[in-house]
Amino acid sequence: MDNLKNIKKFWNKKKVFITGHTGFKGAWLCVILNYLNSSIYGYSLEPKKNSLFNKTKIKKDISSNTYADINNLQRLKQKIHKYKPEILFHLAAQPLVIESYYKPLDTFKTNMMGTLNVLECIRGVNSLKSVVIITSDKVYKINKKNNNYKEQDSLGGDDPYSGSKAASEIIVNSYIKSFFKNNFLKNRVSTARAGNVIGGGDFSKNRLMPDIIKAINTKKTVVIRNANFVRPWQHILDPLSGYLTLAKKQYENKINNKYAFWNFGPDSKNFKKVIEIVKYTKKLENFKFQNLSLNNFNETNVLKLNSSKAKKELKWFPKWDLNKSISKTIEWNSLNNKGISARDICEKQFLMYINNK
Ligand SMILES: NC(=O)c1ccc[n+]([C@@H]2O[C@H](COP(=O)([O-])OP(=O)(O)OC[C@H]3O[C@@H](n4cnc5c(N)ncnc54)[C@H](O)[C@@H]3O)[C@@H](O)[C@H]2O)c1
Repeated sequence: MDNLKNIKKFWNKKKVFITGHTGFKGAWLCVILNYLNSSIYGYSLEPKKNSLFNKTKIKKDISSNTYADINNLQRLKQKIHKYKPEILFHLAAQPLVIESYYKPLDTFKTNMMGTLNVLECIRGVNSLKSVVIITSDKVYKINKKNNNYKEQDSLGGDDPYSGSKAASEIIVNSYIKSFFKNNFLKNRVSTARAGNVIGGGDFSKNRLMPDIIKAINTKKTVVIRNANFVRPWQHILDPLSGYLTLAKKQYENKINNKYAFWNFGPDSKNFKKVIEIVKYTKKLENFKFQNLSLNNFNETNVLKLNSSKAKKELKWFPKWDLNKSISKTIEWNSLNNKGISARDICEKQFLMYINNK
């Protein structure tokens, strides 16, 4: 990623529309873009009571804040057409695998139709110069050799969440080929696939780090699912810097998108088993854990991403290794427990990230 001066210069006064701005990644993105003096137009469901969005009090700095369903095509269209953004990030989704087993219909509806609605709404919005649709590392067809997944690999999705995200990839590809090939959106719409994100301010259920943080704060025992599953762990600032870099390059029309799909995963030393994350975190903070012996939900055993394309073409590189990513997440929690504002911690960590500290 560029140095702070160039980043500020680019994002200053940019009109940015974000769906899913009240979520974990969305709130971090709002804090960063607000720090960089962009104008933010958010469209999401209401934030959860205990959420980073509320903790950072970022709502008051957002130019337009809409709480509405992404499945409401008319409302979404009205907002995008009204605000005429230059850049759009689509993050709104039902993002949890376990939840997708309980609510498959809602998951497919929100993740597939939500993406379709965004694509339909941006047609004819000539102000737009860059659109980044966030999907997932879970979109790939499981490859038994446990290779790292590259962008051109086949899509799959054996659980409802992964299937819904793979389906949204197909929808995006179809819109690019059908409607954005020869008009103002040519080479300006992409999907971004990141790994398993950790970082301060995630309060989601059934995610490893938030569960561990809860155990640290409450002194209760954390139950670990799938201790031996391997995931591409990364700090939230790594994929966010990838999304920002991609959005900027598309805006500047510096991309010739043969494949408009980008992996933003960590380096291979961050491909670690769940139990290794638990053990490393235990070195920093004390908490009790137990392994769940039987998991009723089918989840991918090994997930690894190959991010050479983003490294080569965007000059984007993951910065924080696993130890740093975990220690920054623990640091966020303990500073916040000491009363330091969530917004200040996010901004300081962003600056450390940019300045390689
Ligand atoms: N966190 C991760 O580890 C991870 C990994 C890979 C991909 N992703 C993807 O990144 C994106 C953001 O994930 P997150 O971790 O911030 O999730 P999150 O649950 O914290 O946030 C989800 C956001 O989507 C909004 N949303 C959900 N359903 C909606 C609906 N029907 N209408 C309007 N808005 C709706 C929520 O209000 C919230 O703002 C998602 O697309 C997710 O699939 C996340």
